[in-house]
Amino acid sequence: MNTRAVVIGVGHYLPERVVENAEFEKTLDTSDEWIRARSGIERRHFAAEGQTTSDLAINAANAALEDAGIKADDVDAIVLATSTADLTFPSAATMVQAGLGMTRGFAFDIQAVCAGFVFALTNANALILSGQAKRVLVIGAETFSRIMDWEDRGTCVLFGDGAGALVLEAQDGTGSNEDRGVLSTDLNSDGRHRDILYVDGGVSTHSTGYLRMQGKEVFRHAVEKLAATANAALDKIGMGTEQVDWIVPHQANIRIIKGTAKKMGLPMENVVVTVQDHGNTSAASIPLALSVGKQRGQIRQGDVIVTEAIGGGLAWGAVVLRW
Ligand code: UT7
Repeated sequence: MNTRAVVIGVGHYLPERVVENAEFEKTLDTSDEWIRARSGIERRHFAAEGQTTSDLAINAANAALEDAGIKADDVDAIVLATSTADLTFPSAATMVQAGLGMTRGFAFDIQAVCAGFVFALTNANALILSGQAKRVLVIGAETFSRIMDWEDRGTCVLFGDGAGALVLEAQDGTGSNEDRGVLSTDLNSDGRHRDILYVDGGVSTHSTGYLRMQGKEVFRHAVEKLAATANAALDKIGMGTEQVDWIVPHQANIRIIKGTAKKMGLPMENVVVTVQDHGNTSAASIPLALSVGKQRGQIRQGDVIVTEAIGGGLAWGAVVLRW
């Protein structure tokens, strides 16, 4: 008998305010056409004044708990992926724990920028496989609008705010690829590329800072590394792309999403795409896409899903799971 970390609930939350591409035309030398053509983004959500990352995460977590039909105290751990926590400390995860009214278990944040959810899911899976937790809430939540330089047209039109959450539960499996749950994971980072995507501030430099990105450079790494990590995760369990029902990629740029699918030999009919409506929500983009994909009726129980993401660090990785 093999323990598997199986998804028993999913949910998401998007802040009310929707900003269409055209709004940026008022303040920047940009256009709806450029943003759509270069990134596939049409609109994004921005958090309201005073609305924090943990606020978004609590809403997404409540939706996932409801979907799972369990209460917060039925969960043993919260793993929250974010690069935009409310405060330097405590972790946003402990704020979520309090916000959910959860009085037991443990909670912590994971920071791997846009790859954060893949890292969080891998860690949550490890907690379950090692017997430290039976149920884990895995959340990706971000307020990237707080670290945008509104005068930098090369970045500020690309990002958005939001949150998504999964509930994982330890269940018995057979050890074969027919099991539901996480089947394989693959994590990577290479700090030599830390200066192509970063925030130019932080606690030790006494500032918050703004996101800085060499878009073309990140793009170049993305297609190559995303296809490689997805294929590595599949190789580990002897699965071929023909057995994959859905790629649920990090939603940064439709051209990266298409390029990765092409490299993996999968048609776009097998890819969940939400980038047009959410923009790049960093660690929140994959759980948001999983939740929306389920709502749309795309993702169904038993489907094999490959999630893959890359972001600042560079950090990148993939998780294969059967829904
Ligand atoms: O989630 C973390 C990972 N991040 C990513 O995956 C992002 C990866 N990179 C990208 O998605 C793309 O590189 C971008 C969407 C950021 C940019 O697309 P690109 O095709 O690489 O364009 P570019 O940066 O080479 O810029 C082309 C031109 C430049 O003008 P010149 O130098 O050719 O005259 C830019 O100044 O487009 C200009 N430009 C803009 N024009 C209108 C840059 N931003 C804008 C803008 N509106 N918002």
